Amino acid sequence: MEYIHSKDIFLLMRDTLKLIDRRPMDHGSRVAYYMYKMLECKGGYEKFELADLVFLASLHDIGAYKTENLKDMIRYELKTPMPHATYGYLVLKHLSPLKELAMVILYHHTDYSQLKALDFEYKDITACLSLAEKVDIFSVALGDKFSMDMFQKQVGTVIGREAFQLFNEAIDKYDILQKVRNGDYKKELDDIIGYMIYTNEDKKKYLELLMYCQGFTNESAVVNTVTSMCIAETLGQRVGLTNLEKEELYYGTILHDIGMVAVPKNIINAPRALTPEEYKKVKMHVHLAERILNKRMAKEVVDIVAAHHERGDGSGYPRRLREAQMNRKQEIVQLADAVTALLDKRSYRSAFKAQEMLDIIGKEAEAGKYNKTLVKIFFDCYDEIIQHVNASVEEILITYRKLNQQYNQVSEKLKAR
Ligand SMILES: [Fe+2]
Ligand SMILES: [Fe+2]
Ligand SMILES: [Fe+2]
Repeated sequence: MEYIHSKDIFLLMRDTLKLIDRRPMDHGSRVAYYMYKMLECKGGYEKFELADLVFLASLHDIGAYKTENLKDMIRYELKTPMPHATYGYLVLKHLSPLKELAMVILYHHTDYSQLKALDFEYKDITACLSLAEKVDIFSVALGDKFSMDMFQKQVGTVIGREAFQLFNEAIDKYDILQKVRNGDYKKELDDIIGYMIYTNEDKKKYLELLMYCQGFTNESAVVNTVTSMCIAETLGQRVGLTNLEKEELYYGTILHDIGMVAVPKNIINAPRALTPEEYKKVKMHVHLAERILNKRMAKEVVDIVAAHHERGDGSGYPRRLREAQMNRKQEIVQLADAVTALLDKRSYRSAFKAQEMLDIIGKEAEAGKYNKTLVKIFFDCYDEIIQHVNASVEEILITYRKLNQQYNQVSEKLKAR
């Protein structure tokens, strides 16, 4: 069973990052298009290779989501580019199937004179990406006053000669600047994205990357998602879900809170109870997740995500469903998410102790909020679940530590140059 097409993995990623801030992704799409057409002029690439490079180029500024004030694009792209280039490289190297290409991101702001002296395979692609990115920044800033001539003096030093020639060729052959100006490029970009081919394993890797993207705005979101996944996985096994249902549960749990990336940080971190207006914005995360998942992810998975804040007694949101209207997988994620929320420290309260959490869940199950059989199983295998959670969270924290350590090391090295 194919839960999501390869192309939709990419679109899901793009749309989720757009929910945080659309500017780096809009810029990424234009840059990806320029680079794609430059490489098409160069020749020798299969469609699926071009599609992979479009994926990479679209995400070339992914690091900025973590390291930058996104309003200040000119500053981080032109004045101090290394933090976002370094972080983006590490994110792709450690958390995505695009490992081999990650160096392209690291060097996308490196002058050609330095780039050509380096020993790595994708120098030509990096030089193309680097020019495509400069063209986009300056053509957006200057509008009609933009001309490729302004780069002429930098050719051979800052800009690679081949990249410059390819860009001009792509203007002559495909009218790329005009197509970006009038929006026609989107259709061509969509067509090439259709050539993305990923295995199920790669798709899962990309979804994990998407999960890590939630951590750009809220660090504890990743640990929380993993906690919910461990709880749900164990419950799924105990209630005897089929393999197919277990897969649906996996996808539903890893994606259930992706809409939260759109909730402003000041609301997530508010050290007090939320106002009704703020609470409304938080509740919107379910609707947003549904919107970006609909028609991309299998319906069974979307249904799990859409119902993760529903409660058996009809007190949940957004549809106030009741127990009889929900299936076992939906109920598992509701319980897993509720337990995770109680165990998590929030800005307005400390984390509940294990026994307090168990008491609350027990009382709420009595009131009809959760499926009673599930809650009983949860209580019975609580120790096993917590062990599973601790081991998985430890793994995440090790990955984070490694990433941050390398970020500091690479930054130091680059500063010393
Ligand atoms: Fe960029
Ligand atoms: Fe950049
Ligand atoms: Fe949620």
